[in-house]
Amino acid sequence: MSEKYHIFGYKSIFKYKRFDIVKKRIAIFASGSGSNAQKIMEHFKYSSLAEVALVLSNNPEAYVLQRADNFEIPSHVFDRKTFYESDEIVDILKRLEIDLVVLAGFLWLVPERLLKAFPNKIINIHPALLPKFGGKGMYGDRVHQAVLAAGEEEHGITIHFVNEKFDEGEVIHQAKFKIENGDTLEILKFKGQQLEHQYFPKVIENLLKKYN
Ligand code: GAR
Repeated sequence: MSEKYHIFGYKSIFKYKRFDIVKKRIAIFASGSGSNAQKIMEHFKYSSLAEVALVLSNNPEAYVLQRADNFEIPSHVFDRKTFYESDEIVDILKRLEIDLVVLAGFLWLVPERLLKAFPNKIINIHPALLPKFGGKGMYGDRVHQAVLAAGEEEHGITIHFVNEKFDEGEVIHQAKFKIENGDTLEILKFKGQQLEHQYFPKVIENLLKKYN
């Protein structure tokens, strides 16, 4: 048996050597509902390529924690001080041998210590066509509101690498749709969410396929 790892067992957070399958390991950070996290967990549930090893949140009330529980995926809640002033989160991710960190509706700026520990291994999804409608405070309904107010003809989503600034890392993938006359905030949000759910798991999969 070679040096391969597999994780199983409800609430297990440890890896151990087993079989000949090396699965890439994904950690998802989310602050709220976690509909994107849900799609990612569904996508990789029976994958031989990768698995969601951990879900992390800054919000103890976030519904994403329930979703993780439904998939029997361990979760971890942290506070601001821990995130910005300690190595705890990096230590956990390293201990779990995480290959890719996915921000799926995570609203805090990623600290340098985490960026350094996972260079080019942290990605984010944003509900607009960056570089437009990004930056601090640009999340959720505010984004779609700003798009409507600007009279844009098209709207969409961006999946990008994370750097030290909000929404400014290298773009990995964008998908767009035409804004129709009479489209409301709710419609834009729905159409954007459909694209997010359609593309995010696939983009993650394609990225992981390139890793050794
Ligand atoms: C998603 O639309 C994501 O693009 C957005 O938060 C939503 C989370 O939804 N992220 C940002 O706005 C980051 N700036 P979800 O919790 O249902 O996945």
